[in-house]
Amino acid sequence: MSRQNEYLNEKQIKKLQTDFISWYENERRNLPWRQTNDPYFIWISEIMLQQTRVDTVIAYFYRFTKKYPTIKALAQSDEQELLKVWEGLGYYSRARNLKKAAQQIMTEFDGVFPSDIEAIRSLKGIGPYTAGAIASIAFQKAEPAIDGNAMRVISRLYGVDSDIAKPASRKIFDEILRKLIPTSAPGDFNQALMDLGSGVCTPKKPECLSCPLKNFCFSYKTQQQEKFPVKTKATKPKDVYYVAIAIVNDSGEYLLVQRPDEGLLAKMWTFPLIEVSRKDFEMAQKNFAKNAAPIDLFSVAEEVPLPASLPQDVVWQKRHLGEIKHIFSHLKWHVLLFYGVAQSNFAKPLRGRFVPIKEFSTYVFPKPQQKLVDLLEKSKQ
Ligand code: ADE
Repeated sequence: MSRQNEYLNEKQIKKLQTDFISWYENERRNLPWRQTNDPYFIWISEIMLQQTRVDTVIAYFYRFTKKYPTIKALAQSDEQELLKVWEGLGYYSRARNLKKAAQQIMTEFDGVFPSDIEAIRSLKGIGPYTAGAIASIAFQKAEPAIDGNAMRVISRLYGVDSDIAKPASRKIFDEILRKLIPTSAPGDFNQALMDLGSGVCTPKKPECLSCPLKNFCFSYKTQQQEKFPVKTKATKPKDVYYVAIAIVNDSGEYLLVQRPDEGLLAKMWTFPLIEVSRKDFEMAQKNFAKNAAPIDLFSVAEEVPLPASLPQDVVWQKRHLGEIKHIFSHLKWHVLLFYGVAQSNFAKPLRGRFVPIKEFSTYVFPKPQQKLVDLLEKSKQ
């Protein structure tokens, strides 16, 4: 590893820092969280940016900071309202952790965002990357912010051939970055790395000719850009199969159920979802095909059994309205949407509520539920 670690000498590093910072001054993206040094706003942006693209985050950032302009306002937020503001961004534990961390700041740090890296790390939802980003951008501390982008750039620059998917490799990037980050402008340096990683040193076909680091770059000089970073393939998300049911009552309202208080998509609202085997799912896909001959909405084709144990007190339209897919980090949901009419003896589930479509917008829906609602609306046209 020593070759990699010592690849650039002090003089080269000085030149690299000057070149890189002046490139950033000229080329930096003009982003709302770059107009401030307030750690609260920088924190919110970094949490939003963890799993979401910059283009998507901008509108959410404005909306969120308008509704919760201070740490105190966030600490006192109502959870369902908070999730509503976050709706569509995904990874909802980020929003829940923001509120918990805001409460932590109120009680443990007198309402003032801490500047010490260990104190920042102690806040709920803040890992080493986010702590480094906040410490460097808001408090000018020479701390690295190591994510996939930073590792890609540094592995190419230094020719690091350790597998970036392995947590143990982090230490190597940490050591290199601590040599490279200038104490005079650590926040700019880290953000320059982010901009370079997203716009120039991209995973495929990097634009080396416009790169401010090309004269220092090991993989450019040896024409091995595509060899770096070394990364083992992520494991494929696990397939899970559901039948979703849009159950309508005689007032034209649909049944929504609130998910459990803990776990994936906690406390959010969806149509009832019944997990089925892949075999049952494929059977339903085929036997109740959407584009089969049109049927009377309420007619029941007795000869084909419905998958799983759907409620008995509903008359099923035995034709699905279509299928949606949604990928979470570790799961891939396949959901087939059915439509059914509640009978007078229909027993509403404990966490269920009949809601008119025009009030759906007041409930917090995860992405797959929004896709199901779109399907339902489309099939009514
Ligand atoms: N991605 C993560 N943090 C970022 C930042 N501060 N600016 C641009 N992209 C980012």
